[in-house]
Amino acid sequence: MTNALEHIAIIMDGNGRWALKRGLPRTAGHQKGGETLITICKAARRMGIKYMTVYAFSTENWKRPPAEVSFLMKLFEVYLDKYTKQLVEDGIRVIFIGNRDMLDSSLVQKMNELEQKTSMNNETTLQVCLNYGSRDEIIHAVQKAATLIKNGDILPQNIDEKTFSDMLYTKGIPDPDILIRTSGEKRLSNFLLWQLAYTEFFFTDTLWPDFTPEELAQIIETYQTRERRYGKV
Ligand code: IPE
Ligand code: IPE
Ligand code: MG
Repeated sequence: MTNALEHIAIIMDGNGRWALKRGLPRTAGHQKGGETLITICKAARRMGIKYMTVYAFSTENWKRPPAEVSFLMKLFEVYLDKYTKQLVEDGIRVIFIGNRDMLDSSLVQKMNELEQKTSMNNETTLQVCLNYGSRDEIIHAVQKAATLIKNGDILPQNIDEKTFSDMLYTKGIPDPDILIRTSGEKRLSNFLLWQLAYTEFFFTDTLWPDFTPEELAQIIETYQTRERRYGKV
């Protein structure tokens, strides 16, 4: 028996420290981190991973210095321009979750375009969390549920785990089997609080820009040795 593995979630952390260690501005770390994401995404596809969810920008990240925030927002656009074609050809479907209202319209347009252009791809789905916060997501779902009840569309007692899950941004995506956080931090930082209820956690000191497909393969190997209460196939 092996442990089921179809979804890996990653908190890509440590870009700033990677840059500082090299005497570079933090932004250089974000740039390198973006390249790492593309490499890992391709590796995941080769390994047959169906879903990958990555934390790109949290609802808390707006509190960073304005210059860093605007650099990141621009960088997302640069990456979307640079990699759309490749992602389409690589068979990777990209979807974005999080609150888009606060994002620049030019960025939102590119996100919509990439989602639409890759919508027919079915090898690996890359779910990018951008301006995502798990509490925001849960509140949003509660508001949805309350509206349905108010309109008489559902009875309170008929809201169960499945119907509630379907009100989250991650509707239709299975819960992650593995969570990886790089850079040595051991917290969730408002990431997928509902969805990670039974996920196996892996923390590595490697800074995200240094993370490699080899380390991913090692984590998967270790995951296969863990005794999971649920999720065997
Ligand atoms: C993660 O790297 C990337 C984002 C949050 C956008 P950090 O920027 O958090 O890097 P450290 O944690 O400061 O090293
Ligand atoms: C979490 O990393 C968010 C992303 C990786 C996008 P942070 O580096 O922002 O988290 P905290 O602030 O250390 O908790
Ligand atoms: Mg960090």
